Amino acid sequence: MVEEKTSLHSSLKTIEWKNNKLVMIDQTKLPNELVFVEFTDYNQVANAIRNLVVRGAPAIGVSGAFGLALAVLQSKATTQEELIQDLEKAKKILFETRPTAVNLKWGLEKIMKVAKEGNDVIQIKESIIHAAKKMAEDDVQINMAMGKNGSELFNDNDTILTHCNAGALATVAYGTALGVVRATKDSGKNIKVIATETRPVQQGSRLTAFELKHDGIDVSLIPDTAVGYTMAKGLVDKIVVGADRILKTGHVFNKIGTYQVALIAKQHNIPFYVAAPLSTFDMESNPEDVVIEQRNGSEVTGIGDKKTAPDGINVINPAFDMTTPELISGIITEKGVAKPPYEESIKKLFEAN
Ligand code: MRU
Repeated sequence: MVEEKTSLHSSLKTIEWKNNKLVMIDQTKLPNELVFVEFTDYNQVANAIRNLVVRGAPAIGVSGAFGLALAVLQSKATTQEELIQDLEKAKKILFETRPTAVNLKWGLEKIMKVAKEGNDVIQIKESIIHAAKKMAEDDVQINMAMGKNGSELFNDNDTILTHCNAGALATVAYGTALGVVRATKDSGKNIKVIATETRPVQQGSRLTAFELKHDGIDVSLIPDTAVGYTMAKGLVDKIVVGADRILKTGHVFNKIGTYQVALIAKQHNIPFYVAAPLSTFDMESNPEDVVIEQRNGSEVTGIGDKKTAPDGINVINPAFDMTTPELISGIITEKGVAKPPYEESIKKLFEAN
């Protein structure tokens, strides 16, 4: 693993495949340093996903796929059977890093399908690298299509609240929720963003505030506890967030705190939108099947390196929560905007795909 520091003003490429190496921004270092890290081993990629060096549902889907691309390069297999065994081992290690975002499973399974359809070791290696690179390119195109679809829901002079980071940094580039913000701005509308800080690891203040400021988009940061205040004061026109998993019923799993934002929005009649690609949909699970990742208590007992709680305190630290369909005004995808009732509208999106 090699680190390369760059000026904060260079363009943001969250994930890139360069000379058979995976290069990713180390998001744990933002906003203070923009550091690119190079990976040559899928085990390093698994650690990077687990430790939030790369995070955000689409970004971990694509980095999982590139993890398997590294695994084929690392493999000494001489037969297809041996190569698939090596890949299954790597897939398990990558898959077990984070349980909630369904894009990881999606990305890994897409690559495994390519491996199983291949004929010989050399051809499979090439096809896997090609498929992972294509997945990264498609991610940007999908986000742009989603952004365009979503931009029609927002008006000139809207102030849009967002939670966590569903931006370029959570994808290969452009973003889901922040892709909608970018496309709305690009369509000529004047908009402002309110970003929640998103405790405990502050993807809102460290990442969303950083990337919007970097791109010259008007953004104000609020503590998570000011969501009710800003809505009650009439400072928010609409809300858009990303998602880690969306069920066929329209139940949305996203960063912890999203549910509270949606409830307060309902109380104040403020439209609450979710933006996510079809790869974030899980058409098989029920709400009770979804595993909510429980993260280390140290994320709550401190901010950065500073301790803010007594030693030995018991902590509950779920990384995600579930927002129920009746709180959601629309789900923006690359294939269009699903509106309630979601069972029907989501099914139609997949039929059109
Ligand atoms: O724990 P994280 O940072 O991976 O959580 C990210 C989120 O919850 C995002 O909102 C979600 O993945 C959508 S990203 C386009």
